Amino acid sequence: MNKKLSVLIIGCGRVSAKHIKAINKHKDKLYLVGLVDTNESFAKKTLNDYTDKEYSSKVSIYSDYQKAVLEKKPDIVAITVPSGLHYQIAEFCLNNNCNLLLEKPMAMSSSECKKLYELSEKMHCKIAMGHIYRYFPLVGLLKDDLKNGKFGKILYGTISVRWGHSQDYYNSSAWRGTWKSDGGALMNQSIHAIDLLIWLMSDESVSVQAMLAKRLLEIEAEDLGLAVIKLKSGALASIEGTTATPEDDKQASFNIYCEKGHVALGLNKGKPWLDITNENGKKVNGHYILEQVKKYGVSSILSATNPHTAIYGNLANSIYNNESPIADGISGYTSVDTLLGIYKSARDGKRVNLPLEEDFNSMDMQGFIFDD
Ligand SMILES: NC(=O)c1ccc[n+]([C@@H]2O[C@H](COP(=O)([O-])OP(=O)(O)OC[C@H]3O[C@@H](n4cnc5c(N)ncnc54)[C@H](O)[C@@H]3O)[C@@H](O)[C@H]2O)c1
Repeated sequence: MNKKLSVLIIGCGRVSAKHIKAINKHKDKLYLVGLVDTNESFAKKTLNDYTDKEYSSKVSIYSDYQKAVLEKKPDIVAITVPSGLHYQIAEFCLNNNCNLLLEKPMAMSSSECKKLYELSEKMHCKIAMGHIYRYFPLVGLLKDDLKNGKFGKILYGTISVRWGHSQDYYNSSAWRGTWKSDGGALMNQSIHAIDLLIWLMSDESVSVQAMLAKRLLEIEAEDLGLAVIKLKSGALASIEGTTATPEDDKQASFNIYCEKGHVALGLNKGKPWLDITNENGKKVNGHYILEQVKKYGVSSILSATNPHTAIYGNLANSIYNNESPIADGISGYTSVDTLLGIYKSARDGKRVNLPLEEDFNSMDMQGFIFDD
């Protein structure tokens, strides 16, 4: 019988609720030992809102993450602070032997991401990235079939992430939409979609050409970005990401066009959808749903409502079995590297080779002039 793993959450804002709900679903494997927020009242509120009284009396509240890590020595730390703080907190936790559930984007520069990955290897700690899309039902089955050639040659892929946010959302915290701590629609809202597309295609980015725009929102970074990525296989990936669309009409869609069929999936106003056709043009959605239920049970389909539940379950199993999480530290590094390549290409007005030959930091975008 595996021992239960203790979890400390650092950062008690919007996304922390998804983490606590997910930990609550894995009471056989995980227990919460502490919540940290520089504003302790946020940590207390999160505790009261999402845990029952009996359980919450065993959870400590901290304002200083270093003190919390040194006192609690947690097995897993969930890092859910603004993105510009991921690196320093993740580095401290890894140096203190903690496995990480690190929210996306991994960090704000390619060298920081590489260092975190290398440190995790050196310390024998796991990093699970908050790349939620890799954990959606059916995605694993589709990845296997695309890889083993069931759909023939992969020709190209596209993503559209129309993840509208209001000006109020951006005004709610000083870090949102800044180059230093967040980035814009691509770095924050689209990075896990870019990660999923290239992972499903079992490919690697080799170069990118991109443009950014600011169409509606008063933020420092982009509210719209378009890019074309050339992949190692010769396939192309088209990327569209925006937060300038209506907030109540959020959509994310993924399309992969193949020699023998077509895989499309996505979310529309929070509801997942699917459209998979085989080489004869016949819809085969049912086949994949049945396979998913047979292999992983009905509960795996229901996990679509909070993919963080699947991330925590997979991370616990990865620690028990000494395996890599589905979205590991490498996925954190390569996705940020591709994203920063997009930023560099837009800034310099030219195609950029990937992985980046020199370090690039989202701060290098400071002073970028949007010419629309
Ligand atoms: N995977 C996903 O689906 C998903 C969804 C939303 C957000 N995120 C990511 O999660 C992170 C947090 O986003 P959010 O929307 O919850 O932000 P938020 O601003 O709502 O919450 C961040 C919290 O961190 C706290 N904080 C700041 N500095 C701290 C420090 N040094 N120590 C402890 N606490 C500190 C703040 O007080 C705040 O309560 C971001 O990196 C974001 O990109 C991921």
